[in-house]
Amino acid sequence: MALISLVGITKRFGSVVALDNVSLGVESGEILGVLGENGSGKSTLTKIIYGVYVPDSGYIELRTDGLMRRAFFSSPKEALLSGIVMISQRPQLVEELSVLDNIALFLGYSRGRTRKIVESTMSRFNIKLNADALVGSLSYTEKQLVELVKALSFKPRLLILDEATTYLPRDVKARFYEALRTFASIGGSVIFITHKIPEALEVCDRIAVLRRGRLVRIFSRKDVFSIDDLRKAMFEEVSPSVATERVEEAKAEDGKVLRAEGLVVLDDYGKRAVSIDELVVERGSVHAVVGVAGNGQKELCEGLSGLRKAVEGRVVLDGEDVTRSKASERASKGLVYIPEDPFRTGVVLDLTIMENIRLFATGRLSSDTVKKVISELRISPPEPRIKSYMLSGGNLQKLSLSRALLLNPKCMIVHNPTRMLDEASSRQVKLLLRDSARKGVGVLLVSEDIDEVIDVADKISVIANGRIVKTLPAMYPRLREEIEEAMSTYA
Ligand SMILES: Nc1ncnc2c1ncn2[C@@H]1O[C@H](COP(=O)(O)OP(=O)(O)O)[C@@H](O)[C@H]1O
Ligand SMILES: [Mg+2]
Repeated sequence: MALISLVGITKRFGSVVALDNVSLGVESGEILGVLGENGSGKSTLTKIIYGVYVPDSGYIELRTDGLMRRAFFSSPKEALLSGIVMISQRPQLVEELSVLDNIALFLGYSRGRTRKIVESTMSRFNIKLNADALVGSLSYTEKQLVELVKALSFKPRLLILDEATTYLPRDVKARFYEALRTFASIGGSVIFITHKIPEALEVCDRIAVLRRGRLVRIFSRKDVFSIDDLRKAMFEEVSPSVATERVEEAKAEDGKVLRAEGLVVLDDYGKRAVSIDELVVERGSVHAVVGVAGNGQKELCEGLSGLRKAVEGRVVLDGEDVTRSKASERASKGLVYIPEDPFRTGVVLDLTIMENIRLFATGRLSSDTVKKVISELRISPPEPRIKSYMLSGGNLQKLSLSRALLLNPKCMIVHNPTRMLDEASSRQVKLLLRDSARKGVGVLLVSEDIDEVIDVADKISVIANGRIVKTLPAMYPRLREEIEEAMSTYA
């Protein structure tokens, strides 16, 4: 049974259409995710439900006395009176008051009565807090927990969380999720807003994806979520012109672009850093190797790319044994490696951005193409004629990535490609990796960032102590837990 329905909601801010004819319902006992990138309209949606904004068109229906009736909220207070509570990213608490007094203020009850309610809420939802602590003395995480207890003590019908868990540590997120599940199990409804796919996957029964103010699709847990579909719904399809078209040229009929067998590589001190039974990168896919830093990632990349000798085993590139080939030979056969250190990427610092891009291109590139490359990856400053030493590390990394793609590689090895980048650039790089895969490149993404790996990869291997300890397809269920468990078990 629906608790609340949005019907054809449109909201504009000047020329920006923040929400475009969005219709969406939330059931009783359901956790509905709203997933979208920054600026996709998520907060606007919550603010309309919470009475902060009035929509330009469309309306809200709320179940009242068993019937769906139109609701008009012109302030959060009115929404609250209808049983709707919101928790946002920023705690809304009075620093000078205790936890208890904050909640008493919110509920409008006496201290004594509030204390009883708070105690029963904490025990029911398994949250522990000192109700007498001064809010000003609490950490951000504790304040968010106070917000949760405050909201649940109100016994709302609908709880909205707008990125409320984004900045919380793992274990506290888990406590939030558990509380939300308990709340839903007793008939409460939740709207869970996030821009992170793993968060949405973990806790939601359904996921509504917003893109540029439009509702793109609603996924239901019953249909088994596919991360790939979520990604596709969330991000616009982009086709960076720099990505390659080498698809037809790949020779390996079995689709294995890169294969390592029994590979043993030593570190700088002659100790075994990598010992891999088998690792296969397939054409047209992103295979991620994730692990805590210093578990042999660098040696693995160097062993595969030819910068470090294999003392045992074989490296096979598109059907050809390249174990004895130098890095430059492997590169000319279509294996490109982009190390994590931007100053070792082979960008010539004394050349301009344009010269660096042209240096490796197979044909002659027009300056329009170069400009396009620069703007697609948001290389900053976007000026083809400045010397590369003017660029920051992150921008050097983007430059080397774009250049690598111009080489039309068969296989690309990238190590921590977004670590130095801001959010917009990381997203662009992730899209580029996806797009390269779509065009047939086999991408090996070696990364420490679990979120990144879950966002981008088709297959995920966990590396620990130089060994692959687990390999999983990027499909739910419980992918993240499996990865974390493997990382900690073998650490
Ligand atoms: N008060 C406002 N005034 C002008 N533009 C706004 C306002 N609130 C949101 N927007 C714009 O509406 C779009 C959606 O924003 P928002 O709902 O905050 O997205 P999200 O929460 O998904 O990041 C963005 O382009 C944003 O710049
Ligand atoms: Mg927002």
